[in-house]
Amino acid sequence: MAEVHRFMKTSVMKIVIPGGSGQVGRILARHFHSQGHAVTVLSRNARQAPWRVVAWDGVTPGAWIDELGTSDICINLAGQSVDCRYNSTNRRAIYESRIQSTRLIGQVLASLNPAPSLWINASTATIYRHALDRSMDEANGELGGNEPGAPDTWNFSIDVAKGWEEAFFSTPTPTPLTRKIAIRSALTLSPDPGGVFDVLLGLVRRGLGGRQGSGSQFVSWIHEADFVRTIDLLIAREELCGIVNVASPNPLPNRDFMRVLREAWGIGFGLPSPKWMIEIGTYLMQTESELVLKSRRVAPGRLIDAGFEFLFPGWPAAAQDLVTRWRNKSVHE
Ligand SMILES: NC(=O)c1ccc[n+]([C@@H]2O[C@H](COP(=O)([O-])OP(=O)(O)OC[C@H]3O[C@@H](n4cnc5c(N)ncnc54)[C@H](OP(=O)(O)O)[C@@H]3O)[C@@H](O)[C@H]2O)c1
Repeated sequence: MAEVHRFMKTSVMKIVIPGGSGQVGRILARHFHSQGHAVTVLSRNARQAPWRVVAWDGVTPGAWIDELGTSDICINLAGQSVDCRYNSTNRRAIYESRIQSTRLIGQVLASLNPAPSLWINASTATIYRHALDRSMDEANGELGGNEPGAPDTWNFSIDVAKGWEEAFFSTPTPTPLTRKIAIRSALTLSPDPGGVFDVLLGLVRRGLGGRQGSGSQFVSWIHEADFVRTIDLLIAREELCGIVNVASPNPLPNRDFMRVLREAWGIGFGLPSPKWMIEIGTYLMQTESELVLKSRRVAPGRLIDAGFEFLFPGWPAAAQDLVTRWRNKSVHE
């Protein structure tokens, strides 16, 4: 890890983050900006931020191309949020926003000389099958799709992930000049308002933080500190390319995940939500039950092989840290 930090301190990089205004993008932009790197976020609604924000639409080339032309690294996170009902309109938007923006960036990178040396594209740990029995790593994990009895919404998410990666890897960038890495990320947890952790803690605070569904489905997660250190590692280690799982090495069943979060908050009780209640609740909240009921049991095989050492390998210490920082008012101001 010393090698990573030496690299990050001595080289000032220009990093362009399409879709970098969302939850994960803010974590990354904050991290690189605080280290003195030049961050540019590409956004459909350019607004003020501590870093540079440049307008794009994710569909057509424009002045934003100049940002990529002068960058060292592109980290593409763009895509309509999956936190919605998977009706036909939203399905199209979720799918097309990811595939189109990925293809567009690829076409632009292919036309650049010099091109950025690294293109990281978001993917998702959801690409693996509903896994209760064993962990899914990059080498031995099984992709999901058309599993007997799996709801249509689960297959949809898997199809999106597969299409997204296919668009990414099939785009003819000036490889090997531009290294390409798809990150299959687990739930990325930070105390930021409106993020996944904020939502989960909200349930716990209201006494609703019991197991969800059977509670036996696994939750894969990563603490924001390890997420950014993972990206640092991928930047520094030039031999790494292809698919990388970005998750802590200790996913755990939902019932234990929620119990640990309740303990970190200091509340003994949490109302369990059986599957029927989750289905009604997610309908009322205009989101999908897949996000909590599918078992995501993901192993960071390649990160471990690369010698990555997690600051927060286990959920109890991660949950305690996130709760403490959530309680710190300065986070919410
Ligand atoms: N959060 C997680 O734990 C997690 C886990 C696994 C994978 N991922 C994936 O990682 C990526 C980033 O996650 P996130 O939580 O930061 O997502 P997010 O908060 O929804 O942010 C994604 C960004 O994409 C842009 N966007 C939305 N619709 C778009 C469209 N139609 N065309 C182009 N850009 C569009 C938006 O930026 P503007 O409105 O500024 O344009 C938005 O801020 C997502 O693709 C997500 O699927 C996230």
